[in-house]
Amino acid sequence: MSETNPIQPDAVDAAVTAALAALAEATTVAELKAVKSAHAGENSAIAQLNSLMRQVPKELKAETGKLLGQARGKIEGAYAGREAELAKAEAAAKLIAETVDVTAAPVRRASGSRHPLAQLQEEIADNFVAMGWEVAEGPELEHEWFNFDALGFDIDHPARAEADTFYVDPVGSHLVMRTHTSPVQIRALLNRELPVYVVAPGRVYRSDELDATHTPVFHQVEGIAIDRGLTMAHLKGTLEHFARQMFGSDAKIRLRPNFFPFTEPSAEMDVWFPGARGGARWIEWGGCGMVDPNVLAAAGIDPEEYQGFAFGVGVERTLQFRNNINDMRDMVEGDARFNAQFGGLV
Ligand code: DAH
Repeated sequence: MSETNPIQPDAVDAAVTAALAALAEATTVAELKAVKSAHAGENSAIAQLNSLMRQVPKELKAETGKLLGQARGKIEGAYAGREAELAKAEAAAKLIAETVDVTAAPVRRASGSRHPLAQLQEEIADNFVAMGWEVAEGPELEHEWFNFDALGFDIDHPARAEADTFYVDPVGSHLVMRTHTSPVQIRALLNRELPVYVVAPGRVYRSDELDATHTPVFHQVEGIAIDRGLTMAHLKGTLEHFARQMFGSDAKIRLRPNFFPFTEPSAEMDVWFPGARGGARWIEWGGCGMVDPNVLAAAGIDPEEYQGFAFGVGVERTLQFRNNINDMRDMVEGDARFNAQFGGLV
């Protein structure tokens, strides 16, 4: 009987064995699919055996059909099992490959930052804004009249010498790079209604050599307050508050008599604070005084009715004292590592 059956169990077994071995060897889902089509698809050994069914004697058809069915079942079963295995392995591998290490140090991009001098000017301005003052600006290229004349500098005052002041061509234009922020006092008085409480940070120029304590371009903050009944006590109280904002709550100031052409009386202001370089000591911080009646008159203000005070401090000096910076050149050289000390990112 079996001699007449063109579909021999051995051949079926061989087809199944080959298929199972190939399925077991597949290492990816894609490879597995190719193996399946080779061993169970149209041109596979099992399909070729199946095509012989027509020649199988009638009485053997059921038995042979069952044999082929079981064979296909084994191949399908092996495929499904291996597919599940490989899919699981591939998902696990993907998870590992795509793992995010939340503890890894981030790659930080240098985003740049504002210069410490710019930050400090803003901080100073903010302190005065908190007291109700306004912030003003004036031009850096300034007319001699604002920079000197209106402030009471004589025509032959030494500050006007070219050794100190940058004059701008053409000669006779009377333009200078402003040597201080005090001309903003005059501009503020001319532009505003009284009373005036104005603080003006900004860049100034002097023909100095660059060294550890000087730069030819530097910054000052000017303050001017004009109101009825202002006295030196208001000046001192304002400066003391300013000093504490800058140098801590233990800071003190003292005023020493001095002369400025635009204030009368005038004083040099020293600051004392515990954290100063070389220990707590008095350091010269800026100039100040009661605004000279002639300055008020130059701005069309009646000195009998209005009085006030003014002050000016160097921003570089303030930063230098506050942050113990030995060399002022560090502030102008543009090394990003310097800024990094003040919170800038490098
Ligand atoms: N402008 C002066 C300077 O550059 C500083 C100064 C002194 C400003 C006295 C003032 C002041 O407002 O009242 O040296």
